[in-house]
Parts: sequence; structure tokens; C-alpha cells
Amino acid sequence: MSAVEAPPVPVAAGDLTTGRAAFIERAQTRGDLFIEQPYELYSEANQETWRRLYRALAGKWEQHAHPRFLDGVARLGLDPDRIPRLQDVNRFLEPLSGFRARAVSGYVPAYLFFDCLRRREFPTTITVRDGDRLDYLPEPDIFHDLAGHVPMHTDPAFAGVLVRFGDAARTAALRAGDGDCRSVAEVSRVEGALRALARFFWFTIEFGLMRRPGGAGLCAYGSGLLSSAGEIGHALESPRVQRAPFQLEWVVNQSFEIDSLQPLLFVVDSFRHLEREVRRLERWLREGRLENVAPGEPAVSREDLRSFLDAGLQ
Ligand SMILES: [Fe+2]
Repeated sequence: MSAVEAPPVPVAAGDLTTGRAAFIERAQTRGDLFIEQPYELYSEANQETWRRLYRALAGKWEQHAHPRFLDGVARLGLDPDRIPRLQDVNRFLEPLSGFRARAVSGYVPAYLFFDCLRRREFPTTITVRDGDRLDYLPEPDIFHDLAGHVPMHTDPAFAGVLVRFGDAARTAALRAGDGDCRSVAEVSRVEGALRALARFFWFTIEFGLMRRPGGAGLCAYGSGLLSSAGEIGHALESPRVQRAPFQLEWVVNQSFEIDSLQPLLFVVDSFRHLEREVRRLERWLREGRLENVAPGEPAVSREDLRSFLDAGLQ
């Protein structure tokens, strides 16, 4: 080992469990965000966690998922018994919508994440959650990203919505780059725009409900619902959940908590409706109407803020 190489990370090799995967820690130490999926490192325990999650969700998907999500699961050929290989998923996915899943080693700064969507790339976590905490999800894992998000990406209308999010983020970044100096007030305005974008994404792509096409009732298209057995049933069945028609003014000002069951969800009529609202979001960002949204969650990290300010200057 040369003097400049990082010392080995003291975690078990041969395992891709979230929070304790040596492969991931080494990639992060090197600063490698985009990585390969080292499939041989999945342990039998990782594969068993995937199987248990899939079994817990499959019936709930039949009951509560948007029909396009169920189509997506079938078209991608997701295997209930084996963690998918990203390259296999992409072989089916790319011809359908131009999207592809791209493995990442960890958190993707906000602007970079949205810009990936603009280029039809979906940053995808490759680790698997701890089998002892099947329904507890403080951070994404491969089940959330590949089984929760990616089936919807097979649908061209939904894929188009994701690209529009990328456009909206670019609009926000370019507006951030317009400032001559970085005054406190200016940074606060960029923070406001970022918070609005994050809230919109949360209440749609992560936790969105939609009117069931051609029928009565609601269904789930948000990945946070589709990857959690507890959350999906709660979202669609609990009398304690408020399910409100989507209102942009409300959504961008609404705080949320990531570590408890969601008490408030928003309902869109269709993917066309959702796309109209994302376009409206972009227009409001361009017009500077979202720079003073209500304070509260989510907090905007320095890394996320920096990603937007830097992108605006390029
Ligand atoms: Fe997600």
C-alpha cells in the first residue's frame, strides 16, 4: 500500500448491507460517486432480505399500486427471488423510455440528482437494507430504488415527468447564477427554491397518490409507498391519513418528516396532470415565486445548496 492510500475500512467484506459495506466505504473514500454493481458481493443474507421484502410487497402492489407500476414490474422481469442486476434491468428499460439505472455509492447532491433525471439517468443505490429492519427506511436502498422507483420509469409519460423535474432544477440553478454576489438574502432565496423542489418531489415521486384510472378510488405511484409494506397500506387504508387534491401552493409550503408514517398525502388526477404541475413549478421557479416558501423540513444541506450555486455559475 502506498503512503497516500486510505487504510482499509474495518467492516466485513463480501456483504452489501446498507451502512456496513466495505466496498461502498472504499468508493466513498476514493470520492467515486458513480460505480459498478459488484454483484458477487451480495451475501445470502442480502438475497434473503430482497426475497422477504418482495414477498411482503407483491400482494400490496396488486391491491394498491398504479396499473402502470404493475406493468413496469412485469416488463422489467423483476425476480422475486434474486436482487436484480442493473445491466439486466437496463436492457429492458432503455428501449421503453430511454431511462437507465446508474449505480451510485451514496448520497447524490441535489442538483446532480435532478440533472441526472434530465439526462434520463436514475442514480440507484446498490446496497440492501439490514434484514432486521425491513420496513424502517431512513435512507434509500436497492429495494426502494429498483423495486420502488424504476418500474414507473418504464412508462414514457412518467419518465417525461422526471425529465421535467430536471428542467425545473436547471431553471432554479440558472436563476441562482444570476446574482452578482452571494449575499445572505440571495442564498436564502436559493434555499427557498430548493425546499420547494424537494417538497414537490417528496409529495409526488416519493409519496404520490393518483386517482385510479378508469375506476373508483386511489392508487399509489410514489416509490416511498411502493417500497414499504407498512407505508402503502397506511397511505391507502388508514382513516388517519389526510388525502388532499394536489395544490401546488400548498405542496411547496408543506413540511414533512421522513422517519414516521405520512399523515398527509396529495392526489393527482393523472400523469398528464402531474406533468402540468411540474411545468407550473418550473414557471414559478423562473418567475422567482418560490424563493420565500414556508420554513421547515426538509433542511437544505450545504452540499445541496452548493450544488445549485455551482451549477448556476457554469
Ligand atoms: Fe426515493
